Amino acid sequence: MKMLRSLILKPSYLLLKFNHNTTSLPIRVLNMQTFSSVVSPPSNAVVYEAHGQPDEVSKLVNIPGKELKENDVCVKMLAAPINPSDINRIQGVYPVRPEPPAVGGYEGVGEVYSVGSGVTSFSPGDWVIPYPPSSGTWQTYIMKDQNVWHKVNKGVPIEYAATITVNPLTALLMLEECITLNSGDAIVQNGATSMVGQCVIQLAKTRGIHSINIIRDRPGVDEVKERLKDLGADEVFTENELEGKNVKSLLGGISEPALGFNCVGGNSASMVLKFLRQGGTMVTYGGMSKKPVTVSTSSFIFKELSLRGFWLQNWLNTDKAEEGRRMIDRLLGLVKDGKLKYKMELTPFNDFNTALDKALGKLGSQPKQVIKF
Ligand SMILES: NC(=O)c1ccc[n+]([C@@H]2O[C@H](COP(=O)([O-])OP(=O)(O)OC[C@H]3O[C@@H](n4cnc5c(N)ncnc54)[C@H](OP(=O)(O)O)[C@@H]3O)[C@@H](O)[C@H]2O)c1
Repeated sequence: MKMLRSLILKPSYLLLKFNHNTTSLPIRVLNMQTFSSVVSPPSNAVVYEAHGQPDEVSKLVNIPGKELKENDVCVKMLAAPINPSDINRIQGVYPVRPEPPAVGGYEGVGEVYSVGSGVTSFSPGDWVIPYPPSSGTWQTYIMKDQNVWHKVNKGVPIEYAATITVNPLTALLMLEECITLNSGDAIVQNGATSMVGQCVIQLAKTRGIHSINIIRDRPGVDEVKERLKDLGADEVFTENELEGKNVKSLLGGISEPALGFNCVGGNSASMVLKFLRQGGTMVTYGGMSKKPVTVSTSSFIFKELSLRGFWLQNWLNTDKAEEGRRMIDRLLGLVKDGKLKYKMELTPFNDFNTALDKALGKLGSQPKQVIKF
């Protein structure tokens, strides 16, 4: 059945929307006298009550509705991804994390369900994402202050709106803010199959920057290489293919990269370093293998390599963070124009455990899991 909407209002009123599950309730306009009695719908949420392995400590909990305050926006969630950092938050190893009990998830997209009387920039039916991203997106309804929502264009699939902040924004920022890159330059990266990696390939390509990509050895490697090349990758190598090789001989006509991105660590990070030109920089932004980055003394002394890190959270704490909203709109524009895509799998919320198992790597390499509520 179609959703029923009651759209009203002047500031002294509250917007309410009821879906078909609540049609026994009449569509009402509540005035300020009854304002304090309005609550959000109860929310089904993935909650972890203690830090630990996500598949052991997470459970589905029904959270009662909360009173809608003047500046609150209640959002019915549509989709939210399971990112590696979400897993690390539940494990208790991520530096920024809520104290348990907490609802999982950090980004996502939802539809405005109702707004408080002081809210003028959002209306029921708008699509919004939390910006800056914030905890608690793995639930059916979320209520947060209007300041932390960003309205997004409905012209993109929900899975893209749900995932646009954490990974694509990171890729864009790393390409734009680490060193100055010009058309014809090259970058090298490992973890190229990750969502960040796929975005790096495409965002680099739009600027005429070549990408050399390193992936894990895995079944179906040819198909993976083909897929990354379709996105715009110039070269794709598995770690084994690079073992013991003079990597410079594999560059073909591509210039030696001045910038490298590492989200894996261990031997894979050493491969990135090998590709870098004299004075190049490797930016570490993830540690998927959980192995440390090891650098030879000669890399520092003779090759004058620089190592640095990037963390989106730090950038979000700068005075440039508002710019992030424009960058997100820009990224969603690229999605809409078919210039930015990445592999995802939408999984229904009631199959959350399967999605979690896939995100935990229990079923081998899997596309990014996005929960559809
Ligand atoms: N610093 C920041 O601000 C920031 C922001 C966003 C993301 N990140 C980090 O960036 C990384 C990628 O995130 P994402 O969401 O884009 O990834 P994703 O789409 O979830 O993909 C996971 C990636 O990790 C690889 N991987 C998984 N387990 C691995 C292992 N044991 N050894 C080596 N590689 C492994 C996968 O390779 P296969 O395809 O071969 O399975 C895949 O490339 C993560 O470490 C994440 O925490 C950091």
